[in-house]
Amino acid sequence: MTELSGKRIVVGVTGGVAAYKAAELVRLLVKAGAAVDVALTAAGSRFVGAATFQALSGRPVWTDLWDARPDNGMAHIELTRGAAACVIAPATADFIAKLAHGLADDLLATLCLARACPLLVAPAMNRQMWENPPTQRNIAQLRADGVGVLGPASGEQACGEEGLGRMLEAAEIFEEIVAALQPKPLAGRRVLLTAGPTFEALDPVRGITNSSSGRMGFALARAFRDAGADVTVVAGPTEMPTPRGVARVDVVSALDMRAAVLQALPGQHIFVGVAAVADYRPAAAAADKIKKSAAPLTLQLAANPDILAEVAARPDAPFCVGFAAESRDLAAYAEGKRQSKKLPLVVGNLVADGLGGETNAVTLFDAKGAHPLPPGEKLAVARDIVSHIAAMIDPCTV
Ligand code: C5P
Repeated sequence: MTELSGKRIVVGVTGGVAAYKAAELVRLLVKAGAAVDVALTAAGSRFVGAATFQALSGRPVWTDLWDARPDNGMAHIELTRGAAACVIAPATADFIAKLAHGLADDLLATLCLARACPLLVAPAMNRQMWENPPTQRNIAQLRADGVGVLGPASGEQACGEEGLGRMLEAAEIFEEIVAALQPKPLAGRRVLLTAGPTFEALDPVRGITNSSSGRMGFALARAFRDAGADVTVVAGPTEMPTPRGVARVDVVSALDMRAAVLQALPGQHIFVGVAAVADYRPAAAAADKIKKSAAPLTLQLAANPDILAEVAARPDAPFCVGFAAESRDLAAYAEGKRQSKKLPLVVGNLVADGLGGETNAVTLFDAKGAHPLPPGEKLAVARDIVSHIAAMIDPCTV
């Protein structure tokens, strides 16, 4: 993944046990192509040494306000100049208090005050320290000042207590940093998606389903969230984790999916049918397990409702987007679907390129024609689809 190529991120590490997770965060950022400058407080360096961060980032580590390495001697100014973001992980209660009050008594606090780039903090502290009114006041102040507060999570703490105050895991912080750096053309918009397969029961243990993994739907949910939208996913049976901040409704069959979509629909601006909805269901599911016999078994199937076509046909229809996964003649089928379901946009792909895998190659079909997108990981493809949708909805925002 190279989501952060060409970007420079300053990671500030203050004095908490969770500093060990900062080492992993630096590794993830570097792997994603970012140049990472680590600034350690004196307390931070009691937990993880500068040598570790230097080795992981491949760059010098900064600890001293009086560091003479920059030509002008002003590390506190130079470090955040041109940086895409500054991330404090872990952020102790003490450091949060400094940020909230504009104190600048060491290099990291001073560079935070002197920065022009976005600031994100990942608090890490004991439960009582987190819940205490001064910390809550300081956190509210940081939010009001436009600082991104990542977590904290709830769970087991180094002090042996349980509760809110654990720092998010490195991978979660990484995901939040990537999200924070995305453009927000859909801020204030509400998006509803379907994702995954459906499962149509034949009897209590068997059913008709398909090999959709839900990856594309959840990648799109994340891309919409990162673009600033308020996102709800109605998901068929899939193990995919829910992106932070995305609402999820789990369903099993196409009929359940239709009911959940219609319930969540009021107020939505965009509806995207990514789910591979079964076209047919057993006309009647057997109450007991079907027993085998030597005679051939005939299944009676009933057609499922087309959720997307139904939503798109409503007088109050949101902006509707369909997916067309085809095994051949992609352009003809996808454009045919766009017209028959009366959709402004269809995302087409050949099943061999997308279904169930990590990557996808898609072509967008709209009233202006066919637009092939660069093939890539499903999240990268999802971001391109979202920016095309944002441009169609409001050309001025992109
Ligand atoms: O007609 P086809 O099933 O190929 O269309 C695929 C598109 O329609 C996808 O966007 C899918 O989510 C949606 N669909 C639906 N309900 C169905 C069948 C498909 O919403 N019963």
